[in-house]
Amino acid sequence: MTSQTLREARKYEETVEKNIAGEERPDFHLCARTGWMNDPNGFSYYNGMYHMFYQYYPYESKWGPMHWGHAVSRDLLHWEYLPAALAPDEAYDRDGCFSGSAVALPDGRQLLMYTSVVKERQENEALRDIQTQSVAVGDGIDYEKYAKNPVLDGNDLPEGASRFDFRDPKIWQNADGTYSCIVGNCLMDGDGRILLFTSSDGFQWQFRSILVSNNHRFGRMWECPDFFFLDGKWVLLTSPQDMLPQGFEYHNGNGTLCLIGAFDEAAGTFQEERDQAIDYGIDFYAPQTVLTPDGRRVMIGWMQNWDTCSLRAPDAPWMGQMSLPRELSIKDGRLYQTPVRELEALRCNRTVHEKVPVSGTVRLNGIKGRRVDMELTLRAGDPQALYQKFAVRFAQNDQYQTSLSFRPRESILKVDRKFSGSRRAIIHQRRCLVDSADGSLKLRIILDRFSVEVFVNDGAHVLTATMYTEQSADGISFFADGAVEMDVVKYDLM
Ligand code: FRU
Repeated sequence: MTSQTLREARKYEETVEKNIAGEERPDFHLCARTGWMNDPNGFSYYNGMYHMFYQYYPYESKWGPMHWGHAVSRDLLHWEYLPAALAPDEAYDRDGCFSGSAVALPDGRQLLMYTSVVKERQENEALRDIQTQSVAVGDGIDYEKYAKNPVLDGNDLPEGASRFDFRDPKIWQNADGTYSCIVGNCLMDGDGRILLFTSSDGFQWQFRSILVSNNHRFGRMWECPDFFFLDGKWVLLTSPQDMLPQGFEYHNGNGTLCLIGAFDEAAGTFQEERDQAIDYGIDFYAPQTVLTPDGRRVMIGWMQNWDTCSLRAPDAPWMGQMSLPRELSIKDGRLYQTPVRELEALRCNRTVHEKVPVSGTVRLNGIKGRRVDMELTLRAGDPQALYQKFAVRFAQNDQYQTSLSFRPRESILKVDRKFSGSRRAIIHQRRCLVDSADGSLKLRIILDRFSVEVFVNDGAHVLTATMYTEQSADGISFFADGAVEMDVVKYDLM
């Protein structure tokens, strides 16, 4: 039975999406059908399609009582909206259906597991979220919430755990047919950790172990965990709140964390060996992964950050996009990301310029656009003198530009959208320490109307940023202080 709240949301989105023209949306990135989108939820492959659900408030372009929006795709790039899947319509989730995940059941139905939120007045009068985990079962379009929800609540938590911060279950099925899920949590002092639970059927759950604890290292509360085996290692992804920067790793505020290590399945604990940020740009948070039928681990994140949401004006018809789907791998103990190979099918109008000398500003025939896949290979242009700086500027006209600049002496790559048309005093720049020898660097730059994603040195580092520059600003130019030799391979993406 569809509730009144869900029926209203479905009617609203279907009516109001008609006011949004195709060109007002990104082309191959998923954005909110109407209103607001945050985290990816329930990213899964089910009945021959990729399903993406998302944190959704259809009625305004700002965060509100959370619903789950829904879209499907065959290639992870062309998305078709389906009716909203969940609404906050039960006593145990009346203040929101927060983030979660999806798995296929043996009987062919799809199980959604999500955080059910109810605000509760505390003894000190403060109103706080009580967060529990609930499930819903459906056919890929309509979902029915389980009669015995919530399936995990405060009584299932280990000693010292906060009931206020207990969210974002990521579920998977084990080889023996049982289910596991991990959930973000923190201690009463706010220090994050990830809890592991197990279930024989996806409905009855037991606490298993504390998978990994922050111990006051990476921010505070850990949100939106994911956990999988990749290239011989176990990988834990999570998005810590309230981070502090550590040199060029991490940045202030809501960040992303990738821990690479080993999993002691008997003890239910993770032993980390390496840590790194997932994305080094401005707008990336709460990623989730799916295993594709051909065995690739593909990740999509929310292409936004809580600290920069004011980049878009409140009267915008939609707010919130997903990142490109990215294929993950581990090389030399680091996480690598490359745009999903399906993107190559969108390429057209190949333009190549080889061994271009860049000194001062250079513009090249055929190199412009706002839906672009462009690979730059840089080398020092003068063997006697290393250049000072290289820059590529895009979404550019007389007034606006967003840029990537590289200083080989420091090996620092910087993304800067200060002149992208933003009128807000938020973060507009971010710097990343990259690997470079003798001034060489490889950049793959993907533009899709309102965003740039930069894959450095075949995916060793990625920088993501949104920009709402008017679309007529479609110039691309290159600049060097000193001498650079550059190869360019550029495609339009259609
Ligand atoms: C992360 C997050 C999640 C939560 C959701 C609420 O961006 O804060 O922890 O479930 O957003 O919309």
